[in-house]
Amino acid sequence: MNMLPSKKSLRLVLSVAVLVASPGIATAAGGGAALEHFTPERSDRALQRGAKTFMNYCLSCHTADYHRYSHMARDIGLSNEAVSENLIFTTDKKGERTKIGALMGNNMSTDYGKQAFGAVPPNLTLIARSRGVDWLYTYMKSFYLDESRPFGANNTVFPQVGMPHVLAGLQGWQKPVYESDGHGHEVLSGFQQITAGKLSAQEYDSLVTDLVSFLDYLGDPNREARHSLGIKVMLFLLVFLVLAVLLKKEYWKDVPHS
Ligand code: HEC
Repeated sequence: MNMLPSKKSLRLVLSVAVLVASPGIATAAGGGAALEHFTPERSDRALQRGAKTFMNYCLSCHTADYHRYSHMARDIGLSNEAVSENLIFTTDKKGERTKIGALMGNNMSTDYGKQAFGAVPPNLTLIARSRGVDWLYTYMKSFYLDESRPFGANNTVFPQVGMPHVLAGLQGWQKPVYESDGHGHEVLSGFQQITAGKLSAQEYDSLVTDLVSFLDYLGDPNREARHSLGIKVMLFLLVFLVLAVLLKKEYWKDVPHS
């Protein structure tokens, strides 16, 4: 008899190992700092506010061009006109305001991005899928003042980040506070506010909540439709289960029990 494990069981062991190891991978992406838990908002109002922040503060450097403005308008409960007038700030190649059917891009070339920031601002359409919402939420709250950096900002979950703290005017500036964990390591215990921004801490949290909820929507825009279809399919199957049980009873009714 062949005592070597079959290919199939090896594959099974491998996939279990990957599953067990994946939380470790998620922590590694966090750069050592603990991540705050985040549950995205789903309401149209929250997504509309998130879209506003995104278009005003992020789309100048980043693109989200796997997604169209018109698709977004429909999904978050806005008319095409409202989006065109209030949420489109870019122009097309002819210098006219970008059309509602266009992809959410910008006019910054990758070369310029690399030159200006040392790193190209990545496409954010799928960022919530690759980084996860906990990471994004913590990232947006972890910029801090660091004069040694080109734009005066560093980040505890993304050390030496190339991105400036674009929301500093709203959040103000903070510095990280570290304390010893008793085993000779310094761990982040929180932040100390050094200058005030336009928003209170609470208002900034809710701005980031809406923004990250919007990024979460961008990464999976058809989630709502898929879920409601899923529920309908389950109900449909349930009806058939009941019919099948009744039918079985009917068929076996006349068979004598032995
Ligand atoms: C002034 C240009 C600029 C603006 C505006 C800007 N970013 Fe960035 N962002 C960057 C650059 C450059 C990087 C790449 C940083 C690096 O790799 O060091 C980056 C990186 C990121 C990352 C990390 C991506 C990854 O996984 O590597 C996220 C998330 C992000 N930005 C979100 C945002 C959001 C949300 C906004 C709007 C609130 C925003 N950015 C506005 C320049 C910008």
